Amino acid sequence: MLNFDFKTYNSGYISSDEFVPYSSKNAEIKERFLNGDLAHWMNINTYVSSDELNKIKEVSQTVREICDVFIVIGIGGSYMGSQAVISALSPLYQKRKPEVIFLGKNINPNEYVEVLDYIKDKNIVVNVISKSGTTLEPSIAFDLVKELMQKKYSEEELCKRIIVTTDIKEGTLRKEVEDKGYTSFVVPTIVGGRYSVLTPVGLLPIAVMGIDIDKLLLGAKKSIESHLDDAINYATIRDILYNHKRIVESFTIYDEKLHYFGEWLKQLFAESHGKENKGILPITNINTRDLHSFGQYLQEGKDVIFETVIGVSSNVTIYIEKYHKDLNAINNMAIEKVCEAHSNGHTPSSIIWLDKLDEENIGELIQFFIFAAIIGGLQLGINPFDQPGVQEYKRLINAGLQN
Ligand code: PA5
Repeated sequence: MLNFDFKTYNSGYISSDEFVPYSSKNAEIKERFLNGDLAHWMNINTYVSSDELNKIKEVSQTVREICDVFIVIGIGGSYMGSQAVISALSPLYQKRKPEVIFLGKNINPNEYVEVLDYIKDKNIVVNVISKSGTTLEPSIAFDLVKELMQKKYSEEELCKRIIVTTDIKEGTLRKEVEDKGYTSFVVPTIVGGRYSVLTPVGLLPIAVMGIDIDKLLLGAKKSIESHLDDAINYATIRDILYNHKRIVESFTIYDEKLHYFGEWLKQLFAESHGKENKGILPITNINTRDLHSFGQYLQEGKDVIFETVIGVSSNVTIYIEKYHKDLNAINNMAIEKVCEAHSNGHTPSSIIWLDKLDEENIGELIQFFIFAAIIGGLQLGINPFDQPGVQEYKRLINAGLQN
């Protein structure tokens, strides 16, 4: 279950009058979700049909049986969502089986020397994910891993061990699927990139790691049913603060397991909103660790930041004798006290509480932020679905490769 506290630590910074100009604009946005051009975001089948879901479950089961190392090749929206969910829901110290390796997000040769050596004698399965099929980094990673696999496995075996997730008809990867008969999944046309964690892009890797994707989707459905208004409210607070020149948002997270969730949030908001010389710059803090570094700035630095805190409760009991208190109670108390300190200083905060870290809550949180990113983009007057800046670097690198 998610709970939102958007008021306690923002009240000194935003007055209720400031919400008034948003009421008709937000009503229009809501209507687009309920009955208009954004209505597909209110239907979980947009992300994955029940046939695809069954296929994901079947394929993931086979993959779990035949591999020690599962390699996910992709960059940006093609892997950050699954990495976020897998890390959030995996033990911190005990590795899940199979082991997962995310590749194709860099082109540093040192990484490839190490990884190719590490996987050469292991049973591997690869899932290459690229909507366009033309992105340089995953394309190089796929070529290198495929070359190694071709030395180890027969053509028939390769068809079981290479899984391609790409556009339904466009691109070189789709052509390769048709030529070689690899197992394949589709990146839905309307839910690409950073929004695609709840589609086959994210769901297959997550299922391979033994995480319950039905529960994840159930959580997302709960958000669809109950958090659209919360997302509108949150997006509005962000926009009001942005208009007060709060141009940096710290996603302040009180759980190490949500480190990569923070990375996904940075991508979601930076790539969706950072355009036309606009947009809030997202950063992350993992607390209480970062109170001893960034905390100083949040307390006394320049008035350009606001915080969105993610606090996670726990049902584990660890009694701390010295303070006669349970550690969960101390952690929750610390979250509130830090928000109080920061808002007494220079930084307003909103808090999103999770009563525990599980599949349902993570699904609920993902869908909440997907709504917020879309709504925030519309309030800002930009297109939250494109990324022309990213296309520009891809264009220049590709031109460089022709020289
Ligand atoms: O959110 C996005 O659209 C991007 O981050 C893409 O996911 C990223 O650029 C990878 O693109 P592709 O899947 O075409 O390889």
